[in-house]
Parts: sequence; C-alpha cells; structure tokens
Amino acid sequence: MNAQNEFIRISTNDLDLVIRIAQSKRIYQAYLGPKLMNESDFKSLFVSLKGGSEGSVSARGWEVYPASGAEDFFEPAFAIQHNDGNMTSIFRYVSHESKTIDANIKETVIYLKDDVYPVDVKLVYKTFGKENIIKTWTEITHEEKKPVTISRYASSMLYFENTDYFLTEFSGDWAMEARMSTQPLHFGKKILETKLGSRAAMHVSPFFELGLGQPAQENQGNVVLGTLGWSGNFQFTFEVDNAGNLRVISGINPYASNYELNPKETFVTPEFIFTISTEGTGKASRNFHTWARNYQLKDGKGDRLTLLNNWEATYFDFDEAKLEDIMGEAKMLGVDMFLLDDGWFGNKYPRNSATQGLGDWQVNKEKLPHGIPFLVEKAKEKGVKFGIWIEPEMISPKSELIEKHPDWAIRLPNREPYYYRSQLVLDLSNPKVQDFVFGVVDNLMTENPDIAFLKWDCNSPITNIYSPYLKTKQNQLYIDHNRGVVNVFQRVKEKYPNLPMMLCAGGGGRCDYESLKYFTEFWCSDNTDPVERIYIQWGFSQFFPAKAMDAHVTSWNSRASIKFRVDVAMMCKMGFDIRTHEMKENEQKFCQQAVQDYKRLKPVILDGDQYRLVSPYETNHMAVMYANENKSKAVLFAYDIHPRMGEKMMTIKLQGLDPAKQYKVEEINVMPERKSNLRSHGQTFSGDFLMKVSLDVFTTGQMNSKVIEVTAQ
Ligand code: GLA
Repeated sequence: MNAQNEFIRISTNDLDLVIRIAQSKRIYQAYLGPKLMNESDFKSLFVSLKGGSEGSVSARGWEVYPASGAEDFFEPAFAIQHNDGNMTSIFRYVSHESKTIDANIKETVIYLKDDVYPVDVKLVYKTFGKENIIKTWTEITHEEKKPVTISRYASSMLYFENTDYFLTEFSGDWAMEARMSTQPLHFGKKILETKLGSRAAMHVSPFFELGLGQPAQENQGNVVLGTLGWSGNFQFTFEVDNAGNLRVISGINPYASNYELNPKETFVTPEFIFTISTEGTGKASRNFHTWARNYQLKDGKGDRLTLLNNWEATYFDFDEAKLEDIMGEAKMLGVDMFLLDDGWFGNKYPRNSATQGLGDWQVNKEKLPHGIPFLVEKAKEKGVKFGIWIEPEMISPKSELIEKHPDWAIRLPNREPYYYRSQLVLDLSNPKVQDFVFGVVDNLMTENPDIAFLKWDCNSPITNIYSPYLKTKQNQLYIDHNRGVVNVFQRVKEKYPNLPMMLCAGGGGRCDYESLKYFTEFWCSDNTDPVERIYIQWGFSQFFPAKAMDAHVTSWNSRASIKFRVDVAMMCKMGFDIRTHEMKENEQKFCQQAVQDYKRLKPVILDGDQYRLVSPYETNHMAVMYANENKSKAVLFAYDIHPRMGEKMMTIKLQGLDPAKQYKVEEINVMPERKSNLRSHGQTFSGDFLMKVSLDVFTTGQMNSKVIEVTAQ
C-alpha cells in the first residue's frame, strides 16, 4: 500500500478492477483489465494520474461515482437536488469491506459519503472468479429532513482508454430481435436506451459489446460485454471525452423519472453485469453462459422440457377435442409437454381475439366446458405434461376486470386512450394490483398443482402514462411499476421454486438477467422463420446460454424443409408449434427421431460450452458447436443460408475439443429415406486434426443444414 494512495482491488481469476482512494478521499478507477501479477505495481498506476494530480483542483475524469455539479464536465453517474435546492454532490471514501461468499464469489462494498450533505452511497461489487463476471450496483440513502430528488442514479460508471472504440448494439422490433450492428465511437455521446416501460426491450436489448482498439471479433481482441438486470427503461451512455477516453454509464433510464427519495429510504439500482475478454466475444459469451447457468438463471443447472405449443397451430380457434388431438401429437412427437397458449379464458368478453378478455383469468366455458383440471388430466392420460400461457400484467379495455377496477390500469384520466395490441398495462406500482397478478398464478396453481410450465407474456409497452395509484408522483411510475413486476416474480419463485417458466414479451421484448432469476428461459422471437432465427439466435447467444433460449419448429417459411427448421431449433431449447398431421409421414418420423436425439444430446447442447464458428453476418452460412465439459462429446450445427453459385466453400475448424483424443464424426438428423452425404460420416479424426485442419460440411444448397455428433472414442 502506498502511504498516500490506497487501493481497493476487485478481481476475478483473470480480471482486475483497481480503485484508488486519493488523499482527498475521492475514489478513482485506476485500472480495469487483465489481471495484474503484482500488487506492488499498483503504486505505479498512480503515475498515470488517472483522476488528475493529487491536490489539483482539476482532478477530472475517472471518478468511480461522479455526481452532478462537480468539476467533471461530462455526464455524471448521479444527480441530486437537496432540500435547500443545491444540485451538487461530491462523494468521499468512508470505508470498505470485502467478504468471501464462497471459493468462487467475493463481495466488496465501498461506503461513500457527501461531506456537505447527509447523503450516502454504497458501491457493491460481486465477483465470480472462474467465470470472470463482475456484478455491480449502488445503494443510495440520505438523512435530509425532506425527500431529495434524484435525477440520475447509474448502477455503474466505467472508463476505458484506447485509440479506438467500437460499439455493437442489439436493436430490432417485433419479429426482428437482437440485430447486431457495430459503429465506431468518436467524441460525444451515443446512447442506447428504451422508454417503453414494459416490453421495454422491443427496440433494443439491454446489452452491448465494446471492441477496444478494433471492432469486437469472435476469437481475438479485447472486448467488454455488459448488460443491465432491469426489465424496465434502461440506458447505456457511451461518451468519449476531451481526452479521448470512453466513459460507459449503465443504469435505469432517468427519462421522466426524477425520483423522490424519502429520508432513510434506500434506492437500490439494478445490477450491471459485465465481463472483459482478451480473446474476443466467443470467450466473453462463454463467461456469461457458464455464470448464468451456475448462478443467475432460475434452475440454471436443471433440465429443460421439450414441448408442443398450440399457438401457431390454432391461434384462438380451439376446443377441448382439438387440444386433445394436439396432446396426442405431442405424445407422437415424443416431447415432454403440451403448452396451451392464449385464448383459454374470459366469459363476458371471451378471449377469441387479441382485442378483449385480458384480466379475466377464468376459463372460457364455451371452448373449455370442463375447465383446466380436465385438460391437465387429459394430458396425463396422453402421457405428456401440461403447461399454460398467461399475460397477467395486462388488462383489456374490454374486460370484467377493468369494469370492476377501473383504477387498476395505467391510463390517462383526461386524454383519449392509445391502445397497443388493444390492451393496457396494469398499474403494478399499486400493491393491490401486485397481489392480483400474483393471484393469477397462485389460483391456477392451487386449482391445478400439476401444471408443469408457465409461459408468461407481456405484449404491450406502457401507454397513456398515468398511474391512478401514484397520483402526484407520476415521475416514479416507470421505476415503481417495474419494481412491482419484479416483486411479483419474486413471490412466484418463492412459492413455486421448481416451476419452469418462459419469459415472453411479444417475442424477445423482455430478456434481462434480473427477470431470468425468476424464469428458466425466454422466447427469443415470434419470428420462427429458420433463416431469421439463425441471426436472432446468434444475437442472443452473445449473452444467453442455449438453455435459456426457446426455439420452436413452426410453419414460418414453408420454403424451408422440416429438417432445416428442426436443425435451427435444435441449437437452442427446442420445441414445436405446428400441426403434425399436416406433415408427411417421413417428416413425422424425422421429427420423432430428432426429438429422441435431442433428448440424448441435451446435456451437451444445453450445458456444454458454446463455440460460434462461422458468423451469418460475415458469410452465407452459419456454424455453431457445443462441447461438454470433459470434451468427450460435441455437437456441431452447420447451416447453408443462401450461398452464391460457385462460391469458394470454406471448411470449419472445430473448437473446444481435446487435441489428444480421437473423435468419431457422425451426421444425425438425416431424413429417413436418405443417407448421410457427409464425406467424413463415420470416420474418426484426432481432436488436433478437427481443430487445426477442419471438417468439410458446408454446401451451396439453399437452406441446407447438417447436425453432426462428435464422440470421443
Ligand atoms: C405473443 C407471444 C406469442 C403468443 C401470443 C399470444 O405475441 O409472443 O408467442 O403467445 O402473444 O397472444
């Protein structure tokens, strides 16, 4: 330790974040990057004077939690208005403590205090050693006489020093989620944010990649991957300052959300979760995947159920007989479960279209006269489990619920309403409404303890922004509503810890790592065209493990063969949403075999390490593989999308195998009447050969695919 500068070291197995406590007691980021060998070198970090020279009044930049009104003229992490109207804060170090939670997890808390106003900030860092993941958030509290107004409340601010910065964002819309695009960052700001309130990630997902020195690449280069655990409005600000340094501020979007914080109340910001890799995005993604399975995802280590969903197969048009038929088809396919989608509820306003009935969670007596228990029983008879769809955060303007509780919907009392998908969002800032939403699940589960799965949808952004409950505190709606949602998620998980649940928001409009504490998986997109899915799944795979990503075989893109559609779904958590009786006999047989093989290979696909081998963004093909932990088994998925005629065919070098082992290569998922035309089918190669020389799997066929099982001998 240097006498004048103390350092706080926050590290994982391969990363260090070093924070310097200056003599002024302000704290600065001194280092963030690959792990340093010697703590004795820390004093030399001071030579680069991050945060300005000691004692100088112009100590600008690199402050860990800079607040409004100080000498740093760029975006602050925090902004406040005190009781006396003053709008400045400077936080100084009070103390810090580190505790070891287990062999892999450590938590460091840094206590800061404004020396002029009674405002305290706690910076919390939780590190996951092996996975090289750092989670960080802040806790803000004060003891002023009256509430203070906080107008910025970042979870984290990080600094990077490089010649060039490249940001990869994941934007899109309904049916076009997680489209990746990369741009250089120059002086000034680039902001990624949403203001949708709920279904908030419809236009942009709450994560980003940063390439330092060069655009992020798969297998080489320095990259940062960051994401916010918040399913409401989020904001990432990337600002290149006058010195050419990049500042990254992550947190809740403060848009229309000046928050009044009562004395002694604590404002806890959402978790910002990040990793840094010196070997490109592939390694960084694997950090996230392993960490999510080990620590964050609901039942991250558990199994996942294959299923047949009736949404695309029937939409709202079904009755008991039709559902029984589909249950039979689920059994025929060999999947674990039948999932009943939208349309099963509402009586005064039957849910026969998306225009009415949300909120009235009583079974529709006309379509399903014997109720849900009867369906659960029928599924049991057919030999499959039963899952059900709900959208409990929403309310239709045509519903009994709104007639009974007109003040439960978020809507303006004095303007014409605007409806998105003919619905409104329930006001989850209201604890009574939270009870109601919890009750939707609880009632279903109490009546039907054998329900094996919930699909929880959320189809509307918040429109007509006015909470009847918050009255004069409308500025807290976006935040309090989302906290209310999470509160219900928590209650559901507490009471039903083993219930698998799918997060859905008109497709992938909600996919954040806070929600995924309470959900086992999420629906990536309503777009199940396998060609589009290749890109969508590539995008989400940057942050989420295959186990969390639901992919179903449907009728979208009928030009694609059943095989191609199955092969694309099989690289994630596979399901079906299609009438099997419309398939040819050989297609049915193919699907049955594919389901069997998938169940056998789930431990590799869902729990193995993922290697993205060939990018659809860079070629007319895509390839991805999974290898299990002891490298005894791998599965390779290779897709030809729209290759050009006469295109130079590339071969694939595998990754993640043991060079010393011998592996047998076998093509699976071959149509029943066909034989594999893979030249290497049935042959054995060393891991060394497969990783250095290659496999020849691509073709110039349109929408052609191969699934290859690689087994150590
Ligand atoms: C959303 C979901 C679909 C389906 C419909 C039902 O669009 O993404 O999968 O459940 O709602 O209305």
